[in-house]
Amino acid sequence: MRKTSDLIWQDAQHQVLFEILDLIGQPDSGSAVVLQLQQYAETHFTLEEQYMEMLSYPGIDAHRRAHDEFREEIATLPCADDFDVAFRQVVSTYLTEWLKRHVFGIDKELESFILESSFK
Ligand SMILES: [Fe+2]
Ligand SMILES: [Fe+2]
Repeated sequence: MRKTSDLIWQDAQHQVLFEILDLIGQPDSGSAVVLQLQQYAETHFTLEEQYMEMLSYPGIDAHRRAHDEFREEIATLPCADDFDVAFRQVVSTYLTEWLKRHVFGIDKELESFILESSFK
């Protein structure tokens, strides 16, 4: 059940990211989904970073480094349609675990900070 104090845009974008990561592990997935992940992750990370800059968020450097780590992980994913399905499932699980730790860790701290500001 969603709390009324949740940051709606952030939650909705995380949900989309988890859905894309799930698609990557599906047997009929291909290069289009990898591209979608790269584009959507960039959109999401950029928006969080814009909020952090606007609010002079104290944890901005560590948070940006975490985003950069994920950016690097997904930038090297094979963009071929014959990208092996077993490998894609491993990648999907690994990135999903990474994202869960991020979303329930430093993203939650950022969420609280934004909610206490006047820019939510
Ligand atoms: Fe983040
Ligand atoms: Fe996030």
